Amino acid sequence: METSFLFFSVCLLTTVLGLVDNVLHDKIAALGELGSFGINEGADMDTLEMPSWTSERSGKVLVNVDSFGAAGDGISDDTQAFISAWNQACSAPKSVFLVPQGRRYRVNATRFKGPCAKKLIVQIDGTILAPEEPKKWDPNFLRIWLEFFNLTGVHFQGRGVLDGSGSRWWAASCKRNKSNALSIGSSSAISVRDLSIQNSPQMHFVISHCDSVRVSNTLISAPGDSPNTDGIHITESTNVVLQNCKIGTGDDCVSIVNGSSNIKMKTIYCGPGHGISIGSLGKDNSTGIVTNVVLNGAFIWNTTNGVRIKTWQGGSGYVRAVRFDNVRMEDVANPIIIDQFYCDSSFICLNQTAAVQISQIMYRNISGTTVSQEAMKFACSNTVPCTDIVLYNINLEKKDGTAVTYCNSATGFKYGLVQPAADCLTTIINNYYGRNQVQIDQLANGGENLVHTEL
Ligand SMILES: *[C@@H]1O[C@H](CO)[C@@H](O)[C@H](O)[C@H]1NC(C)=O
Ligand SMILES: *[C@@H]1O[C@H](CO)[C@@H](O)[C@H](O)[C@H]1NC(C)=O
Ligand SMILES: *[C@@H]1O[C@H](CO)[C@@H](O)[C@H](O)[C@H]1NC(C)=O
Ligand SMILES: *[C@@H]1O[C@H](CO)[C@@H](O)[C@H](O)[C@H]1NC(C)=O
Ligand SMILES: *[C@@H]1O[C@H](CO)[C@@H](O)[C@H](O)[C@H]1NC(C)=O
Ligand SMILES: *[C@@H]1O[C@H](CO)[C@@H](O)[C@H](O)[C@H]1NC(C)=O
Ligand SMILES: *[C@@H]1O[C@H](CO)[C@@H](O)[C@H](O)[C@H]1NC(C)=O
Ligand SMILES: *[C@@H]1O[C@H](CO)[C@@H](O)[C@H](O)[C@H]1NC(C)=O
Repeated sequence: METSFLFFSVCLLTTVLGLVDNVLHDKIAALGELGSFGINEGADMDTLEMPSWTSERSGKVLVNVDSFGAAGDGISDDTQAFISAWNQACSAPKSVFLVPQGRRYRVNATRFKGPCAKKLIVQIDGTILAPEEPKKWDPNFLRIWLEFFNLTGVHFQGRGVLDGSGSRWWAASCKRNKSNALSIGSSSAISVRDLSIQNSPQMHFVISHCDSVRVSNTLISAPGDSPNTDGIHITESTNVVLQNCKIGTGDDCVSIVNGSSNIKMKTIYCGPGHGISIGSLGKDNSTGIVTNVVLNGAFIWNTTNGVRIKTWQGGSGYVRAVRFDNVRMEDVANPIIIDQFYCDSSFICLNQTAAVQISQIMYRNISGTTVSQEAMKFACSNTVPCTDIVLYNINLEKKDGTAVTYCNSATGFKYGLVQPAADCLTTIINNYYGRNQVQIDQLANGGENLVHTEL
């Protein structure tokens, strides 16, 4: 289905754009083909590479935290038992680090380091709880709770829960360094599936400096008013797939920041929260680069943004080749937004001449309800315009019928139904590509006819 729609879209694009500048056509066709980058995302990885640790023939060595003295009563400090069990599991091939079902383990901030022997499985069936009191947090572990580091080929699985016990942190001063619940750093060929992560002091799941990570069937939840509790945060990582994840928090459901490319998200439920974001990028004049991001299939509800790209004034670098497909929005403010004036600080952010450049951003088949008047907002830098924004089959409605599209310094192209109208994009493209409105409409109508006959 995805493949055929993709193929169809590429054909459609080819037809519609046959008359338009070849340069534009090539860029857009390239966008249509995004998402086919080489990362294992299908059944083979699930069935072949993730054997059940209980199976007779698997030859697995079970390393149960209980065997190292963990009490699992939700009160006793089980940190040392977890560390001892990790050391054992990590050092022997085919180990299963087991956190058994039906028990609750209290564990301090801990760094679980690799490299480990081959074929390690981290099987979390029980609940792991963070200490509740921020004041007692070990100052050597200010930003982490459970950090896994320098691993290759490790599978995290099980129906267990990681509970960051964050409520006292949320109330604490925002100057305090807060811990992220689960971090996986400097690792490759990692899969994470079926886990629940909740109530993190800060971000729930940080993927940093990793290559080839697959996260599936993961549930992330925290109250909608808990500060900075991003769901999944991807930084300086490549070839990451998020699939079938349900995320509701007080900040971005997913945030993808500097140094990340080839990121694919499929079937994501998001809400409440701040939506699915690329950025922020470019803070304090920094360089931010994010490329090749595809979202296909999402339901976003009760969020302050839908699909968002956010950059600070004064940054450099670029966001390029991004596609958001098949998204249903319900009661979302700013369903489609590019914000190059992002400013999440108590100071006024002055406009600067430098900005992170945004180009080749495609939105297809996005529908639903907006609670903000500006259903689509392309607020781009005056000196570094957004280019090649492509809209196809957009239908965003506000209850009172007043939805509009806002553009500043944004150029692009639209075809198929686009509601609210996005003439502010095409007006610029008319000048940019030297076409008048009649020619653009003919192209758009050609596209619509094709849609009707071929679907
Ligand atoms: C990470 O693991 C590799 C082996 O895979 C090892 O050579 C390296 O020293 C480790 N790095 C750190 C910081 O522990
Ligand atoms: C865990 O944290 C508590 C509270 O700070 C401390 O008393 C305890 O010693 C820590 N456990 C370990 C194994 O360091
Ligand atoms: C937070 O961490 C930074 C380093 O990452 C450190 O410089 C700063 O002092 C810490 N702030 C607090 C309040 O602990
Ligand atoms: C929407 O999210 C807010 C928190 O951000 C929450 O208070 C409210 O109950 C949610 N609305 C619905 C309909 O779930
Ligand atoms: C951005 O990511 C690149 C690539 O990983 C890295 O070299 C650079 O230091 C990062 N920049 C910032 C500001 O973090
Ligand atoms: C960023 O660059 C601008 C212009 O050069 C400068 O005025 C500003 O102080 C810089 N900000 C930071 C945080 O370095
Ligand atoms: C458009 O999106 C909806 C879900 O929002 C989906 O049911 C439908 O199949 C999509 N259409 C195409 C052509 O992909
Ligand atoms: C920056 O520029 C934008 C677009 O022209 C404008 O809307 C905004 O008010 C400016 N911000 C400041 C702080 O001058």
